[in-house]
Amino acid sequence: MNVKKIFMGIIMSVLMAGILAACGGANENGNGGEAKKLVMLTSADYPPYEFIDTEKGNEIVGFDVDIARYITEELGYELDIVDMDFTTLITAMNSEKGDFILAGMTPTPDRMENADFSDVYFTAKHLIVSEKASGIESIEDLAGKTVGVQTGSIQEGEAEKIKETVDITIETRNRVPELVQEILAGRFDAAIIEDTVAAGHFKNNPDLVGFAIEETGEAAGSAIAFPKDSELTDEFNRVLNEMKENGELDKLILKWFGGEE
Ligand code: ARG
Repeated sequence: MNVKKIFMGIIMSVLMAGILAACGGANENGNGGEAKKLVMLTSADYPPYEFIDTEKGNEIVGFDVDIARYITEELGYELDIVDMDFTTLITAMNSEKGDFILAGMTPTPDRMENADFSDVYFTAKHLIVSEKASGIESIEDLAGKTVGVQTGSIQEGEAEKIKETVDITIETRNRVPELVQEILAGRFDAAIIEDTVAAGHFKNNPDLVGFAIEETGEAAGSAIAFPKDSELTDEFNRVLNEMKENGELDKLILKWFGGEE
């Protein structure tokens, strides 16, 4: 009977649709086999976290990049990386220029108003970096001096804190290597730079020295930032914690920070 045929036909198409949907669902991203692309925003001025490798065709590489590659691969996403000034990262993410930020970024209360953060994956200290000849060996020695910090970084906050007790002039630059250049050019007396990042500059510039800010310094923990309420926060955290447990994170720490000779 015709009615029966039509009825069976409807049943079949409903079943087929169901099967197709299930197939789509089997792919992690559910959009027909094409892996979904995630865009990571970073400020590639920060070796060993992220920097431009001129020997590798100007590819952006580093500790953060390896973490992003591992996590996105585990979750079945492709990865694109976009470089910009540190101070513009959160605004750019919130205007949908990227899906997450990996830039050695510290979760601060201010930033948490505009972004969600993963767990902390690495913690560093702040150093006062200056030329050996300057004789700057304590915070008090900074009196009357010019101190450089990266615009929008928590080091800028550290400088403000120092300024409450010691008379310093704070200068900002968008990129960390510029801070070092200004010291070498004699325009800055010192700069506040994270220990792990300063280490690379010490290697390249034997005239530079540094000491850790003890009293005022808050630890510079790094975490991954996401748009508020993004589902990625939990997904990324799950893999990040796997990396902490299976030794993958330690391996990357050794690879990027362990090479002290
Ligand atoms: N941890 C510091 C902060 O959150 C500095 C990070 C700078 N990162 C960079 N890619 N330049 O402010």
